[in-house]
Amino acid sequence: MADLDKLPPSSRLLHWLVAALMLGLAGMGLYMSRTEAWALYPWHKSLGVIALLFIALRLGQRLRLGLPDPVQATSPALHLAARWAHGALLALTLLMPLSGMLFSGASGHGFGVFGLTLVPHQDDPAKPGEVLPYNATLADLGHQAHHWLGYLLLLLVALHVLAALKHHVIDRDRTLLRMLGRKDG
Ligand code: HEM
Ligand code: HEM
Repeated sequence: MADLDKLPPSSRLLHWLVAALMLGLAGMGLYMSRTEAWALYPWHKSLGVIALLFIALRLGQRLRLGLPDPVQATSPALHLAARWAHGALLALTLLMPLSGMLFSGASGHGFGVFGLTLVPHQDDPAKPGEVLPYNATLADLGHQAHHWLGYLLLLLVALHVLAALKHHVIDRDRTLLRMLGRKDG
């Protein structure tokens, strides 16, 4: 992307919206699965499916515009590391909702968006009160992927935030200000 001074408002809006959704959903997912807060599950699934719409818009924009150029010249190794990290973050934003949907769908628990069913719950006729998986292997794959990719996402986001702070505090460049849409500084 050519303009080194500013990013389009839609890029900034989508970055912060998707970032807030991903961090909120990761926190919610960790909390609800550890405390067995079943009431939160439909909220997590509904918000996760809605997040996928914004994620798709964001990926479409990145495919069209490419990743933003650095605000100032940097070493080829750092430039490559930043591009790989941004590419991995973008891939994880897509893989997290897809793995969640695979898990919830194939396990027979089902999911939807605030009451609109997308994959129905399937009761086990042989064991009342229990769920019958549509496909136990795919459900397990989705579960494992959602769990481990979730940790990878949090690790990369921590590095990403440290990198943004390094730009701002140590390099004193406009990387963070540009993403915040600030003209000064
Ligand atoms: C869009 C971004 C999403 C993020 C960042 C996210 C993140 C997470 C995280 C970090 C966990 C805790 C995993 C663990 O420690 O095992 C979790 C749990 C879970 N997520 Fe998501 N999730 C997203 C979307 C979805 C979607 C779309 C669905 C289903 C439609 C879903 C279904 C679930 C379920 C059922 C659990 C509980 C797993 C368990 O009880 O072991 N997630 N999520
Ligand atoms: C408080 C948290 C965050 C801060 C301070 C932050 C900061 C930034 C900054 C300053 C840039 C611009 C980098 C450049 O100009 O080269 C950026 C880009 C980027 N960020 Fe974040 N970010 C945060 C959270 C996240 C999260 C949670 C994700 C994804 C899950 C994410 C994904 C990306 C990606 C893919 C880019 C590449 C450019 C783009 O696609 O817009 N960020 N971030």
